[in-house]
Amino acid sequence: MVMMNKRLSPQMETEFSAFLEIYPAYVETTILDELRANEYERLDRLGHVYLDFTGGGMYSSRQLQQHFDRLKESVFGNPHSNNPTSLAMTELVESARAYVLEYFNASADEYDAIFTLNASGALKLVGESYPFGPGGRYLLTFDNHNSVNGIREFARTKGAKIIYVPAIPPTMHVDRSQLIMQLEHSRPDQNNLFAFPAQSNFTGVQYPLEMIAEARALGWDVLLDAAAYVSTNPFDLSQWKPDFVAISFYKMFGYPSGVGCLLMRRQMLSKIKRPWFAGGTIQIASVQGDGHYLVEGPAAFEDGTVDYLNLPAVEDGLRHIANVGIDVIHERVHCLTGWLLDNLNQLHHSNGKALVEIHGPLDMIGRGGTIAFNFVDVKGAGFDIRQIEHLANEEMISLRAGCFCNPGAAEMAYHLSKSEIGAFFKDTRGMSFDELRSRIRTTYDKEYGATRISVGLSSNFADAFAFLQFAQGFLNKSIQDVGVFKAPPESRAWMHDSA
Ligand SMILES: Cc1ncc(COP(=O)(O)O)c(C=O)c1O
Repeated sequence: MVMMNKRLSPQMETEFSAFLEIYPAYVETTILDELRANEYERLDRLGHVYLDFTGGGMYSSRQLQQHFDRLKESVFGNPHSNNPTSLAMTELVESARAYVLEYFNASADEYDAIFTLNASGALKLVGESYPFGPGGRYLLTFDNHNSVNGIREFARTKGAKIIYVPAIPPTMHVDRSQLIMQLEHSRPDQNNLFAFPAQSNFTGVQYPLEMIAEARALGWDVLLDAAAYVSTNPFDLSQWKPDFVAISFYKMFGYPSGVGCLLMRRQMLSKIKRPWFAGGTIQIASVQGDGHYLVEGPAAFEDGTVDYLNLPAVEDGLRHIANVGIDVIHERVHCLTGWLLDNLNQLHHSNGKALVEIHGPLDMIGRGGTIAFNFVDVKGAGFDIRQIEHLANEEMISLRAGCFCNPGAAEMAYHLSKSEIGAFFKDTRGMSFDELRSRIRTTYDKEYGATRISVGLSSNFADAFAFLQFAQGFLNKSIQDVGVFKAPPESRAWMHDSA
Protein backbone atom coordinates (compact mmCIF):
# COMPACT_ATOMS: atom_id res chain seq x y z
CA MET A 1 0.00 0.00 0.00
CA VAL A 2 1.46 3.36 -1.00
CA MET A 3 1.20 5.84 1.83
CA MET A 4 0.95 9.57 1.42
CA ASN A 5 1.13 12.42 3.89
CA LYS A 6 -1.77 14.25 5.47
CA ARG A 7 -2.19 16.80 2.66
CA LEU A 8 -4.22 14.10 0.90
CA SER A 9 -7.30 15.36 -0.96
CA PRO A 10 -9.68 13.73 -3.46
CA GLN A 11 -8.04 15.72 -6.30
CA MET A 12 -4.63 14.55 -5.21
CA GLU A 13 -5.79 10.95 -5.05
CA THR A 14 -6.99 11.17 -8.66
CA GLU A 15 -3.72 12.75 -9.74
CA PHE A 16 -1.79 10.15 -7.78
CA SER A 17 -3.52 7.31 -9.62
CA ALA A 18 -2.72 8.98 -12.95
CA PHE A 19 0.89 9.45 -11.82
CA LEU A 20 1.22 5.74 -11.00
CA GLU A 21 -0.02 4.85 -14.50
CA ILE A 22 2.83 6.85 -16.01
CA TYR A 23 5.44 6.06 -13.36
CA PRO A 24 4.56 2.52 -12.18
CA ALA A 25 8.05 1.98 -10.73
CA TYR A 26 7.13 4.43 -7.95
CA VAL A 27 5.34 1.59 -6.11
CA GLU A 28 8.70 -0.13 -5.75
CA THR A 29 9.82 2.74 -3.54
CA THR A 30 7.14 2.52 -0.83
CA ILE A 31 9.78 1.81 1.80
CA LEU A 32 10.40 5.56 1.57
CA ASP A 33 6.79 6.30 2.51
CA GLU A 34 7.21 4.17 5.60
CA LEU A 35 10.36 6.06 6.46
CA ARG A 36 8.62 9.36 5.82
CA ALA A 37 5.85 8.38 8.22
CA ASN A 38 8.21 7.11 10.92
CA GLU A 39 11.60 8.74 10.69
CA TYR A 40 10.80 11.94 8.83
CA GLU A 41 7.35 12.49 10.35
CA ARG A 42 8.35 15.98 11.50
CA LEU A 43 7.99 17.20 7.91
CA ASP A 44 4.24 16.53 7.94
CA ARG A 45 3.72 17.28 11.61
CA LEU A 46 5.20 20.76 11.10
CA GLY A 47 3.53 21.22 7.71
CA HIS A 48 6.66 21.48 5.57
CA VAL A 49 6.99 20.89 1.84
CA TYR A 50 10.74 20.48 1.54
CA LEU A 51 12.03 20.98 -2.00
CA ASP A 52 15.63 21.99 -1.43
CA PHE A 53 17.54 18.70 -1.45
CA THR A 54 20.27 20.16 -3.63
CA GLY A 55 20.78 22.71 -0.88
CA GLY A 56 20.79 20.10 1.90
CA GLY A 57 19.51 16.59 2.59
CA MET A 58 17.20 15.47 5.41
CA TYR A 59 18.29 13.43 8.41
CA SER A 60 16.07 10.72 9.87
CA SER A 61 15.17 10.74 13.56
CA ARG A 62 16.84 7.32 13.86
CA GLN A 63 20.17 8.69 12.64
CA LEU A 64 20.05 11.29 15.43
CA GLN A 65 18.97 8.76 18.05
CA GLN A 66 21.76 6.39 17.14
CA HIS A 67 24.36 9.13 17.21
CA PHE A 68 23.31 10.81 20.44
CA ASP A 69 22.87 7.46 22.21
CA ARG A 70 26.45 6.66 21.26
CA LEU A 71 27.70 9.97 22.62
CA LYS A 72 25.64 9.62 25.82
CA GLU A 73 26.80 6.11 26.54
CA SER A 74 30.53 6.52 25.89
CA VAL A 75 33.42 8.72 26.88
CA PHE A 76 35.35 10.09 23.95
CA GLY A 77 38.47 12.20 23.75
CA ASN A 78 40.47 13.87 20.97
CA PRO A 79 41.90 11.16 18.67
CA HIS A 80 45.64 10.98 17.81
CA SER A 81 46.67 9.80 21.27
CA ASN A 82 47.02 6.54 23.17
CA ASN A 83 44.69 7.02 26.12
CA PRO A 84 41.46 4.99 26.31
CA THR A 85 39.06 7.79 25.35
CA SER A 86 41.30 8.85 22.49
CA LEU A 87 41.73 5.29 21.24
CA ALA A 88 37.95 4.74 21.34
CA MET A 89 37.46 7.82 19.21
CA THR A 90 40.25 6.95 16.79
CA GLU A 91 38.63 3.58 16.20
CA LEU A 92 35.31 5.20 15.25
CA VAL A 93 36.95 7.83 13.04
CA GLU A 94 38.88 5.15 11.17
CA SER A 95 35.79 2.99 10.93
CA ALA A 96 33.93 5.91 9.31
CA ARG A 97 36.84 6.46 6.92
CA ALA A 98 36.88 2.78 5.93
CA TYR A 99 33.14 2.78 5.42
CA VAL A 100 33.28 5.84 3.15
CA LEU A 101 35.59 3.85 0.87
CA GLU A 102 33.40 0.75 1.13
CA TYR A 103 30.23 2.74 0.36
CA PHE A 104 31.73 4.11 -2.86
CA ASN A 105 33.30 0.73 -3.64
CA ALA A 106 36.79 2.20 -3.61
CA SER A 107 39.75 -0.03 -2.94
CA ALA A 108 41.87 1.23 -0.04
CA ASP A 109 44.91 0.45 -2.21
CA GLU A 110 43.70 2.86 -4.82
CA TYR A 111 41.88 5.65 -2.93
CA ASP A 112 42.22 7.64 0.27
CA ALA A 113 39.26 9.25 2.03
CA ILE A 114 40.29 12.62 3.46
CA PHE A 115 37.79 14.28 5.80
CA THR A 116 37.21 17.95 5.15
CA LEU A 117 34.75 20.61 6.35
CA ASN A 118 32.56 20.26 3.28
CA ALA A 119 32.83 19.80 -0.50
CA SER A 120 34.34 23.28 -0.79
CA GLY A 121 37.04 22.25 1.70
CA ALA A 122 37.81 19.21 -0.47
CA LEU A 123 37.96 21.36 -3.61
CA LYS A 124 40.22 23.90 -1.94
CA LEU A 125 42.61 21.13 -0.88
CA VAL A 126 42.95 20.12 -4.52
CA GLY A 127 43.31 23.73 -5.68
CA GLU A 128 46.05 24.65 -3.25
CA SER A 129 47.98 21.38 -3.63
CA TYR A 130 47.77 20.74 -7.37
CA PRO A 131 51.06 21.57 -9.16
CA PHE A 132 49.66 24.07 -11.63
CA GLY A 133 52.35 25.87 -13.58
CA PRO A 134 53.17 27.73 -16.80
CA GLY A 135 52.29 25.58 -19.81
CA GLY A 136 49.76 23.61 -17.77
CA ARG A 137 45.99 24.03 -17.87
CA TYR A 138 42.93 24.20 -15.68
CA LEU A 139 39.99 23.17 -17.84
CA LEU A 140 36.47 23.34 -16.47
CA THR A 141 32.88 23.47 -17.59
CA PHE A 142 30.93 26.75 -17.47
CA ASP A 143 28.43 24.88 -15.34
CA ASN A 144 30.26 24.53 -12.05
CA HIS A 145 29.79 25.55 -8.45
CA ASN A 146 31.82 28.58 -7.35
CA SER A 147 33.98 26.35 -5.18
CA VAL A 148 35.23 24.72 -8.41
CA ASN A 149 35.47 28.09 -10.18
CA GLY A 150 37.52 29.37 -7.25
CA ILE A 151 40.34 26.91 -8.01
CA ARG A 152 41.13 29.07 -11.03
CA GLU A 153 42.69 31.62 -8.64
CA PHE A 154 45.30 29.03 -7.58
CA ALA A 155 45.83 28.09 -11.23
CA ARG A 156 46.18 31.73 -12.23
CA THR A 157 48.67 32.54 -9.47
CA LYS A 158 50.86 29.63 -10.56
CA GLY A 159 50.74 30.62 -14.23
CA ALA A 160 48.49 27.87 -15.66
CA LYS A 161 46.06 28.65 -18.47
CA ILE A 162 42.36 28.66 -17.50
CA ILE A 163 39.89 27.40 -20.08
CA TYR A 164 36.11 27.13 -19.82
CA VAL A 165 33.93 24.86 -21.96
CA PRO A 166 30.34 26.08 -22.46
CA ALA A 167 27.02 24.30 -22.11
CA ILE A 168 24.46 24.58 -24.86
CA PRO A 169 21.04 26.03 -23.97
CA PRO A 170 18.24 25.10 -23.69
CA THR A 171 19.16 21.54 -22.60
CA MET A 172 22.37 22.85 -21.02
CA HIS A 173 24.40 19.74 -21.83
CA VAL A 174 28.11 20.35 -22.24
CA ASP A 175 29.44 21.13 -25.69
CA ARG A 176 31.17 17.77 -26.25
CA SER A 177 33.01 18.75 -29.43
CA GLN A 178 34.58 21.81 -27.76
CA LEU A 179 35.44 19.72 -24.76
CA ILE A 180 37.20 17.03 -26.81
CA MET A 181 39.07 19.72 -28.72
CA GLN A 182 40.31 21.29 -25.48
CA LEU A 183 41.22 17.93 -23.97
CA GLU A 184 43.26 17.11 -27.06
CA HIS A 185 45.09 20.45 -26.95
CA SER A 186 47.12 20.04 -23.81
CA ARG A 187 50.81 19.64 -23.26
CA PRO A 188 51.10 16.16 -21.75
CA ASP A 189 54.50 17.06 -20.28
CA GLN A 190 52.73 19.65 -18.07
CA ASN A 191 50.18 19.31 -15.25
CA ASN A 192 46.64 19.58 -16.57
CA LEU A 193 43.53 19.41 -14.41
CA PHE A 194 40.00 18.99 -15.74
CA ALA A 195 37.06 19.68 -13.38
CA PHE A 196 33.36 19.08 -13.88
CA PRO A 197 30.26 18.30 -11.82
CA ALA A 198 28.72 14.83 -11.91
CA GLN A 199 25.41 16.67 -11.63
CA SER A 200 24.77 20.37 -12.05
CA ASN A 201 23.42 22.05 -8.94
CA PHE A 202 21.69 24.56 -11.25
CA THR A 203 20.03 22.57 -14.03
CA GLY A 204 20.21 19.01 -12.71
CA VAL A 205 22.12 17.99 -15.88
CA GLN A 206 24.22 14.90 -15.34
CA TYR A 207 27.55 15.03 -17.08
CA PRO A 208 28.69 11.80 -18.75
CA LEU A 209 31.01 10.06 -16.32
CA GLU A 210 32.71 8.58 -19.40
CA MET A 211 34.44 11.97 -19.66
CA ILE A 212 36.64 10.87 -16.74
CA ALA A 213 38.33 8.06 -18.70
CA GLU A 214 38.41 10.14 -21.89
CA ALA A 215 40.27 12.94 -20.15
CA ARG A 216 42.61 10.65 -18.26
CA ALA A 217 43.51 8.80 -21.46
CA LEU A 218 44.61 12.15 -22.88
CA GLY A 219 46.89 12.79 -19.90
CA TRP A 220 44.59 14.94 -17.75
CA ASP A 221 44.03 14.63 -14.03
CA VAL A 222 40.31 14.71 -13.29
CA LEU A 223 38.48 16.42 -10.45
CA LEU A 224 34.86 15.34 -10.14
CA ASP A 225 32.52 17.50 -8.08
CA ALA A 226 30.05 14.86 -6.91
CA ALA A 227 28.38 17.04 -4.23
CA ALA A 228 25.00 17.28 -5.98
CA TYR A 229 25.10 13.77 -7.46
CA VAL A 230 25.79 11.17 -4.81
CA SER A 231 22.69 11.86 -2.70
CA THR A 232 20.37 10.33 -5.29
CA ASN A 233 22.63 8.33 -7.63
CA PRO A 234 24.83 5.28 -7.21
CA PHE A 235 28.49 6.08 -7.64
CA ASP A 236 31.06 3.30 -7.93
CA LEU A 237 34.76 4.11 -7.76
CA SER A 238 35.73 0.70 -9.08
CA GLN A 239 34.01 1.70 -12.33
CA TRP A 240 34.75 5.44 -12.57
CA LYS A 241 38.21 6.49 -11.59
CA PRO A 242 38.55 10.25 -11.20
CA ASP A 243 41.70 11.42 -9.46
CA PHE A 244 39.76 13.58 -7.02
CA VAL A 245 36.12 13.49 -5.87
CA ALA A 246 34.52 16.17 -3.65
CA ILE A 247 31.50 15.46 -1.45
CA SER A 248 29.50 17.11 1.36
CA PHE A 249 27.81 14.53 3.59
CA TYR A 250 24.93 16.75 4.75
CA LYS A 251 23.72 16.78 1.13
CA MET A 252 23.44 12.99 1.24
CA PHE A 253 21.77 12.42 4.61
CA GLY A 254 21.27 15.75 6.36
CA TYR A 255 23.28 15.21 9.52
CA PRO A 256 26.02 16.06 10.28
CA SER A 257 26.72 19.27 8.44
CA GLY A 258 30.32 20.41 8.67
CA VAL A 259 31.86 17.20 7.32
CA GLY A 260 32.82 16.54 3.74
CA CYS A 261 35.31 14.35 2.02
CA LEU A 262 37.96 14.35 -0.65
CA LEU A 263 38.36 10.94 -2.24
CA MET A 264 41.78 10.97 -3.83
CA ARG A 265 43.59 8.41 -5.95
CA ARG A 266 46.66 7.44 -3.98
CA GLN A 267 48.83 7.90 -7.05
CA MET A 268 48.18 11.63 -6.72
CA LEU A 269 50.15 11.66 -3.44
CA SER A 270 53.41 11.84 -5.35
CA LYS A 271 52.11 14.62 -7.57
CA ILE A 272 50.47 17.11 -5.24
CA LYS A 273 52.21 19.21 -2.65
CA ARG A 274 50.64 20.74 0.44
CA PRO A 275 51.48 24.45 0.70
CA TRP A 276 51.68 24.35 4.50
CA PHE A 277 51.53 22.04 7.48
CA ALA A 278 49.39 22.07 10.58
CA GLY A 279 48.78 20.22 13.80
CA GLY A 280 47.66 16.71 12.92
CA THR A 281 49.25 16.72 9.46
CA ILE A 282 52.87 16.16 10.51
CA GLN A 283 54.89 13.52 12.26
CA ILE A 284 57.34 16.12 13.61
CA ALA A 285 58.31 19.71 12.94
CA SER A 286 61.05 21.92 14.29
CA VAL A 287 61.33 25.64 14.85
CA GLN A 288 65.12 25.90 14.79
CA GLY A 289 65.52 22.96 12.43
CA ASP A 290 63.10 24.74 10.08
CA GLY A 291 61.67 21.46 8.82
CA HIS A 292 58.71 19.13 9.08
CA TYR A 293 57.75 15.60 8.04
CA LEU A 294 54.18 15.04 6.94
CA VAL A 295 52.37 11.98 8.25
CA GLU A 296 51.57 9.33 5.70
CA GLY A 297 48.06 8.87 4.39
CA PRO A 298 44.92 10.99 4.60
CA ALA A 299 45.80 12.65 7.93
CA ALA A 300 48.46 14.69 6.07
CA PHE A 301 45.54 16.61 4.54
CA GLU A 302 43.34 16.93 7.63
CA ASP A 303 44.37 20.20 9.23
CA GLY A 304 44.08 20.35 12.99
CA THR A 305 41.52 18.31 14.85
CA VAL A 306 38.90 16.65 12.68
CA ASP A 307 35.23 17.00 13.67
CA TYR A 308 35.68 13.75 15.55
CA LEU A 309 32.44 13.65 17.51
CA ASN A 310 30.45 13.92 14.30
CA LEU A 311 32.41 11.49 12.15
CA PRO A 312 30.69 8.35 13.49
CA ALA A 313 27.40 9.92 12.34
CA VAL A 314 28.79 9.93 8.79
CA GLU A 315 29.01 6.17 8.92
CA ASP A 316 25.45 6.01 10.33
CA GLY A 317 24.21 8.21 7.49
CA LEU A 318 25.93 6.19 4.78
CA ARG A 319 24.64 2.94 6.27
CA HIS A 320 21.16 4.46 6.38
CA ILE A 321 21.35 5.19 2.64
CA ALA A 322 22.79 1.74 1.94
CA ASN A 323 19.99 0.08 3.93
CA VAL A 324 17.29 2.01 2.11
CA GLY A 325 19.09 1.42 -1.18
CA ILE A 326 20.43 4.21 -3.35
CA ASP A 327 18.64 2.63 -6.34
CA VAL A 328 15.31 3.02 -4.54
CA ILE A 329 16.04 6.69 -3.80
CA HIS A 330 17.14 7.17 -7.38
CA GLU A 331 13.93 5.63 -8.72
CA ARG A 332 11.71 7.80 -6.55
CA VAL A 333 13.58 10.95 -7.53
CA HIS A 334 13.31 9.91 -11.17
CA CYS A 335 9.53 9.42 -10.96
CA LEU A 336 8.79 12.63 -9.04
CA THR A 337 11.09 14.79 -11.16
CA GLY A 338 9.64 13.30 -14.36
CA TRP A 339 6.10 14.06 -13.18
CA LEU A 340 7.03 17.61 -12.16
CA LEU A 341 8.67 18.27 -15.53
CA ASP A 342 5.70 16.84 -17.45
CA ASN A 343 3.23 18.94 -15.51
CA LEU A 344 5.16 22.18 -15.23
CA ASN A 345 5.68 22.07 -18.98
CA GLN A 346 1.97 21.77 -19.58
CA LEU A 347 1.06 24.93 -17.67
CA HIS A 348 -0.04 27.66 -20.06
CA HIS A 349 -1.81 30.97 -19.51
CA SER A 350 -5.18 31.16 -21.24
CA ASN A 351 -3.54 33.25 -24.02
CA GLY A 352 -1.37 30.22 -24.84
CA LYS A 353 1.90 31.53 -23.37
CA ALA A 354 3.87 29.04 -21.26
CA LEU A 355 3.98 29.75 -17.52
CA VAL A 356 7.28 27.95 -16.91
CA GLU A 357 10.62 28.29 -18.66
CA ILE A 358 12.82 25.39 -17.58
CA HIS A 359 16.62 25.68 -17.79
CA GLY A 360 17.88 22.22 -18.65
CA PRO A 361 16.51 18.99 -20.06
CA LEU A 362 12.71 18.75 -20.25
CA ASP A 363 12.74 14.98 -19.85
CA MET A 364 14.59 12.57 -17.61
CA ILE A 365 17.37 11.78 -20.06
CA GLY A 366 20.73 12.82 -18.60
CA ARG A 367 19.39 14.69 -15.62
CA GLY A 368 18.73 14.30 -11.91
CA GLY A 369 16.20 15.63 -9.41
CA THR A 370 16.96 19.37 -9.60
CA ILE A 371 14.75 21.67 -11.68
CA ALA A 372 15.64 25.34 -12.24
CA PHE A 373 13.12 27.56 -13.99
CA ASN A 374 11.51 30.96 -14.25
CA PHE A 375 7.81 31.59 -13.95
CA VAL A 376 6.79 33.84 -16.84
CA ASP A 377 3.79 36.14 -16.56
CA VAL A 378 0.82 36.39 -18.86
CA LYS A 379 2.56 39.13 -20.90
CA GLY A 380 5.77 37.11 -21.27
CA ALA A 381 7.89 38.82 -18.59
CA GLY A 382 9.64 36.87 -15.82
CA PHE A 383 8.12 37.03 -12.34
CA ASP A 384 10.40 38.32 -9.59
CA ILE A 385 12.20 35.26 -8.14
CA ARG A 386 12.33 36.86 -4.68
CA GLN A 387 8.57 37.29 -4.70
CA ILE A 388 8.11 33.66 -5.79
CA GLU A 389 10.32 32.58 -2.90
CA HIS A 390 8.41 34.85 -0.51
CA LEU A 391 5.04 33.43 -1.61
CA ALA A 392 6.38 29.87 -1.35
CA ASN A 393 7.56 30.65 2.18
CA GLU A 394 3.99 31.60 3.10
CA GLU A 395 2.90 28.11 1.97
CA MET A 396 5.74 26.49 3.96
CA ILE A 397 7.36 25.39 0.71
CA SER A 398 11.16 25.45 0.94
CA LEU A 399 12.66 26.17 -2.46
CA ARG A 400 15.62 28.27 -3.49
CA ALA A 401 15.99 31.46 -5.54
CA GLY A 402 19.13 32.82 -7.19
CA CYS A 403 21.94 31.44 -9.30
CA PHE A 404 22.95 28.85 -6.69
CA CYS A 405 26.66 29.76 -6.67
CA ASN A 406 26.81 28.66 -10.29
CA PRO A 407 27.30 31.83 -12.35
CA GLY A 408 28.47 29.98 -15.48
CA ALA A 409 25.23 28.03 -15.80
CA ALA A 410 23.28 31.24 -15.22
CA GLU A 411 25.25 33.16 -17.85
CA MET A 412 24.46 30.39 -20.36
CA ALA A 413 20.80 30.11 -19.33
CA TYR A 414 20.23 33.88 -19.58
CA HIS A 415 22.34 34.32 -22.73
CA LEU A 416 24.73 36.82 -21.18
CA SER A 417 27.85 37.38 -23.26
CA LYS A 418 31.38 37.88 -21.91
CA SER A 419 31.21 41.62 -22.52
CA GLU A 420 27.71 41.99 -21.09
CA ILE A 421 28.51 40.31 -17.78
CA GLY A 422 32.15 41.48 -17.75
CA ALA A 423 30.99 45.11 -17.59
CA PHE A 424 29.81 44.54 -14.00
CA PHE A 425 33.16 43.25 -12.77
CA LYS A 426 35.15 46.43 -13.29
CA ASP A 427 33.60 48.05 -10.22
CA THR A 428 36.14 48.21 -7.39
CA ARG A 429 33.53 48.76 -4.68
CA GLY A 430 31.94 45.32 -5.24
CA MET A 431 28.25 44.55 -5.63
CA SER A 432 25.61 42.38 -3.99
CA PHE A 433 23.84 39.61 -5.86
CA ASP A 434 20.56 41.50 -5.98
CA GLU A 435 22.32 44.65 -7.19
CA LEU A 436 23.79 42.60 -10.05
CA ARG A 437 20.33 41.25 -10.87
CA SER A 438 18.83 44.69 -10.87
CA ARG A 439 21.63 46.16 -13.01
CA ILE A 440 21.30 43.35 -15.55
CA ARG A 441 17.57 44.02 -15.67
CA THR A 442 17.94 47.76 -16.21
CA THR A 443 20.87 47.52 -18.64
CA TYR A 444 19.84 44.55 -20.80
CA ASP A 445 16.18 44.02 -19.89
CA LYS A 446 17.04 40.45 -18.88
CA GLU A 447 16.04 38.46 -15.84
CA TYR A 448 19.01 36.94 -13.99
CA GLY A 449 18.26 34.24 -11.46
CA ALA A 450 15.94 31.27 -11.24
CA THR A 451 13.70 29.38 -8.88
CA ARG A 452 14.99 25.92 -8.03
CA ILE A 453 13.22 22.90 -6.62
CA SER A 454 14.86 19.57 -5.87
CA VAL A 455 13.61 16.27 -4.50
CA GLY A 456 15.35 13.54 -2.54
CA LEU A 457 15.20 10.67 -0.09
CA SER A 458 12.18 11.80 1.95
CA SER A 459 10.17 13.40 -0.89
CA ASN A 460 6.76 12.05 -1.81
CA PHE A 461 4.00 12.66 -4.31
CA ALA A 462 2.22 15.04 -1.93
CA ASP A 463 5.26 17.36 -2.00
CA ALA A 464 5.32 17.42 -5.79
CA PHE A 465 1.56 17.90 -5.92
CA ALA A 466 1.69 20.79 -3.41
CA PHE A 467 4.28 22.50 -5.58
CA LEU A 468 2.25 22.03 -8.75
CA GLN A 469 -0.76 23.61 -7.05
CA PHE A 470 1.42 26.51 -5.96
CA ALA A 471 2.62 26.93 -9.57
CA GLN A 472 -0.93 26.87 -10.91
CA GLY A 473 -1.67 29.90 -8.72
CA PHE A 474 0.41 32.04 -11.14
CA LEU A 475 -1.67 31.19 -14.19
CA ASN A 476 -3.14 34.22 -15.95
CA LYS A 477 -1.35 36.58 -13.54
CA SER A 478 0.86 39.52 -14.42
CA ILE A 479 3.89 40.79 -12.50
CA GLN A 480 1.71 43.63 -11.21
CA ASP A 481 -0.80 41.10 -9.84
CA VAL A 482 1.89 39.10 -8.06
CA GLY A 483 4.14 41.98 -6.99
CA VAL A 484 7.84 42.48 -6.55
CA PHE A 485 9.55 41.59 -3.30
CA LYS A 486 10.93 44.42 -1.17
CA ALA A 487 13.61 43.11 1.17
CA PRO A 488 13.36 44.55 4.68
CA PRO A 489 16.22 47.06 5.13
CA GLU A 490 17.86 45.01 7.91
CA SER A 491 17.92 41.83 5.78
CA ARG A 492 21.27 40.69 4.46
CA ALA A 493 19.94 37.47 2.91
CA TRP A 494 19.82 39.02 -0.54
CA MET A 495 23.44 40.13 -0.50
CA HIS A 496 24.88 36.89 -1.80
CA ASP A 497 23.96 33.99 -3.97
CA SER A 498 23.93 30.60 -2.28
CA ALA A 499 24.42 26.83 -2.85
C1 LIG B 1 27.63 20.82 -7.10
C2 LIG B 1 28.09 21.46 -5.81
N1 LIG B 1 29.40 21.55 -5.58
C3 LIG B 1 29.89 22.09 -4.46
C4 LIG B 1 29.04 22.59 -3.51
C5 LIG B 1 29.62 23.18 -2.28
O1 LIG B 1 29.22 22.44 -1.17
P1 LIG B 1 29.52 22.97 0.29
O2 LIG B 1 28.83 24.28 0.40
O3 LIG B 1 28.93 21.94 1.17
O4 LIG B 1 30.98 23.10 0.42
C6 LIG B 1 27.66 22.54 -3.71
C7 LIG B 1 26.74 23.13 -2.72
O5 LIG B 1 25.59 23.36 -2.97
C8 LIG B 1 27.17 21.94 -4.89
O6 LIG B 1 25.87 21.84 -5.14
